[in-house]
Amino acid sequence: MKLKNILLYSVASLLFAGCSKSNTSKMDNFIDQLMDEMTVKEKIGQLNLNVSGGFVAGEGINGNTVPLEQRIENGEIGGLFGMKNVEVIKHWQQVAVEKSRLHIPLLFGMDVIHGYDVTFPIPLALASSWDPDMIEQVARTSAIEASSDGVNWVFSPMVDVCHDARWGRIAESAGEDPYLGGEIAKAWVRGYQTNNLLDAPDNVMACVKHYALYGAGEAGRDYNTVDMSRPKAMNEFMLPYKAAAEQGAGSFMASFNEFEGIPATANEYLLDEVLRKRWGFKGFVVTDYTGIMEMTNHGIGNELEVTARALKAGIDMDMVSEYFTTHLQEAIEKKMVKMDDIDRACRRVLEAKYKLGLFDDPYKYCDVARAKATLGKAEHVKQARKVAQQCQVLLKNDGNLLPLKRNQRIAVIGPLGNSANDMLGCWSGSSEKVLPVSLIDGLKIAVGTQGRVEYATGSHLVKNPELEKILVGSFMGLAKAGNAKESTWRSNGELLREALVVASRSDVIIAALGENMNMNGEGASRATPNLPEPQLQLLEALVATGKPIVLVVFTGRPLELTWADQHVPAILNAWFPGVEAGNAIADVLFGDVNPSAKITVTFPRSIGQIPIHYNHKNTGRPHSADDAPYIRFKSNYIDVVNAPLYPFGYGLSYTTFAYARMKLSSNTLSKDGKLTVSIQVKNTGARAGKETVQLYIHDVISSSTRPVKELKGFKQIELQAGECQIVSFEITSEDLKFYNHELEYVCEPGEFEVMIGPNSRDVISASFVYN
Ligand code: BGC
Repeated sequence: MKLKNILLYSVASLLFAGCSKSNTSKMDNFIDQLMDEMTVKEKIGQLNLNVSGGFVAGEGINGNTVPLEQRIENGEIGGLFGMKNVEVIKHWQQVAVEKSRLHIPLLFGMDVIHGYDVTFPIPLALASSWDPDMIEQVARTSAIEASSDGVNWVFSPMVDVCHDARWGRIAESAGEDPYLGGEIAKAWVRGYQTNNLLDAPDNVMACVKHYALYGAGEAGRDYNTVDMSRPKAMNEFMLPYKAAAEQGAGSFMASFNEFEGIPATANEYLLDEVLRKRWGFKGFVVTDYTGIMEMTNHGIGNELEVTARALKAGIDMDMVSEYFTTHLQEAIEKKMVKMDDIDRACRRVLEAKYKLGLFDDPYKYCDVARAKATLGKAEHVKQARKVAQQCQVLLKNDGNLLPLKRNQRIAVIGPLGNSANDMLGCWSGSSEKVLPVSLIDGLKIAVGTQGRVEYATGSHLVKNPELEKILVGSFMGLAKAGNAKESTWRSNGELLREALVVASRSDVIIAALGENMNMNGEGASRATPNLPEPQLQLLEALVATGKPIVLVVFTGRPLELTWADQHVPAILNAWFPGVEAGNAIADVLFGDVNPSAKITVTFPRSIGQIPIHYNHKNTGRPHSADDAPYIRFKSNYIDVVNAPLYPFGYGLSYTTFAYARMKLSSNTLSKDGKLTVSIQVKNTGARAGKETVQLYIHDVISSSTRPVKELKGFKQIELQAGECQIVSFEITSEDLKFYNHELEYVCEPGEFEVMIGPNSRDVISASFVYN
């Protein structure tokens, strides 16, 4: 029996070596033969994804303490994740291929979220570049590094649209806009799976997450309930998932949240009806971490019932719960699932392995020499610096305080100023070889002997010492501990006194404030997403010195920065810039690079405005203007204007751009026609700069209410000082479509407003009629 299987494996390997993904009938035949040989238990084993921690699979979960090696030999494991190191991965692949009865190779997954060994800026920062090509290159480098180290499957891109700064995972997303999110989602997939040739040795399989609507949890609390109408979901949140599916992403991850009262992990509408039937997704779906197990907490059934529900809804792989391995057999016996359901899921997992070329060569990702030559390469670090330069958003620059001169005395003050590990942001656990550069170190290198850079901590990260201890600890055993901390606990008063002495002997102060790496990402919701109290008090004291101040904000979310905006002349939102943080920020602060990034999330003026997003509806009682004062019985607040502090799409440059002469090629558009809208953009400042020109459309009258504006296009141009360029966009009926109340994707005749500008607020508009 064993011999026959070895034969099957080796004959098949020879026969199908070099098979491309296009050869589906060969793949089907291969998998048919393989599945003919598989026992039910082995089939269920393929649906089981284990976290590798401690190398005892499922420890603590279902009390399973059987050693991993034995479980792999028994064919109980389809894949492992969270394991770093090519030699370690090679070892486990050998166990699967050489010791299990059918020699089926394992998938090796990893949370490669913004880089593998070389960490790039967090995804929210990357999105601020508005540069999908650049993001594709980030994904490419991540794939090259990860695949060299044994990983063949990455849990990325995260494409959840989010309107809520309280949610810590907004840091992993592209922000609030579905169109931009879709463009960026496609770029990630292209970069990981170049040309969808999954068997290329430096491609990895993407896993689009978290499907679906995970970014819309109530009150920004992680894992919280999501409920919204289907049209709202389709119009405002689903586009990036759809875009990634259409781009050919190999797998999807179901989200933790519920939708319409059914957890996504058992949601047939989401998994089967929308993802597979409507969008034609052909890959496999994995749960999120213990997603099946958590459905007992959701209260939709006991262990057996939730297991059956997940499989029947369309889940193919169980991450960590061990519910498939524990309960599926019984579910078949009790006729709660059919053998066909298991076969279908097993086939999808095997197809993924086949497409990755693992049956041809299970060790194709396990070349130790390649890993050595690839990880942390100098050219990747160079790329990380360039990318980080493109992600920093200049929010304010009164009196052109920036760029700074090098030949002066610079005081860097704040808990994030000397905090190298924090610069990596959330999900940077696989970064090991290249050390991150702190802000102070980057500035010192940039200034050299031309000036002087001094540092003081100035304040604690947060007010509560116990909380601070947690926040500077390591997170999920993956990320390194952040280091925004004092080695001994000194009072804020003492830290401030020291900082004021350093400030007093400076010409300019750089305040380095915000969040540390553990204040964003998973399980890091904040009810008050602002500058924590001790840091704000520090900033107030620094402002009181009367010295010029530049605030550099480290954050994974749009913080409420209202006081800072009112009192500090220059603000640079640096996000978490990755491994080259200090160098890239110095490049911008000293003007070697002209900032060009623009926020893809609305920055609130008050936390009470959250959730806030630019593409909101008009209501029946709209206020006359976003910044108009309070009027009773209008849709507004007594205590704050509707306008955000910084609108979606906003970001300054060291030069200025003027928009004028908007023109439409026609004032009507027909079903198969095209309309060109153009505008003149001029660099009116004194230096060259890059500008992202944004196109918005508003459907003035339609059968369902529509947002006041929606992003439908953007273009980046580079202009020399004084240079002028006409930028044009083509509009077709495709750009006017939306999901109506019946969930039909339609374009309705009538008037449309078209707007172009440097951000979602400062637009020039014109209108046309679609007929
Ligand atoms: C997260 C996912 C992640 C998974 C595996 C979960 O807790 O929600 O984004 O991919 O863990 O690490």
